[in-house]
Amino acid sequence: MSSLGEIIYSAEKRLPEEIAAKAESHAPRIESPDVVKPDEEFTVKIVVGPHPSTEEHSIRWIDVYFSEEDRTFNPIHIARVELGPGYAQPEITLRLRLRKSGTIYAIAYCNKHGLWESRKGIRVSK
Ligand SMILES: [Fe+2]
Repeated sequence: MSSLGEIIYSAEKRLPEEIAAKAESHAPRIESPDVVKPDEEFTVKIVVGPHPSTEEHSIRWIDVYFSEEDRTFNPIHIARVELGPGYAQPEITLRLRLRKSGTIYAIAYCNKHGLWESRKGIRVSK
């Protein structure tokens, strides 16, 4: 029996060919600065796809987490966006402020193709 982490797909994971073929259209792309100042607001954009948005097949939600350097318990839940099939496209924008460096994780759920994760490091520097 697999742990949940083992069945979350990502572009870097070694996957069976049929699943790996879905990485480009399902793994979230995280766009953000590489370096930010402490407590300074910045924009993070997360995009999945192009991917269909229909009742039968769509990205249903995107979750965003932050794993903060030197924090004992991680991650911190930052946001969950639920997407209405047929209306909402899987693209979200968040305004964030960080005090410490760490890694942003985005997880997208496709009702046909499962959970897909991506991550991006952000350094906080004065
Ligand atoms: Fe899909």
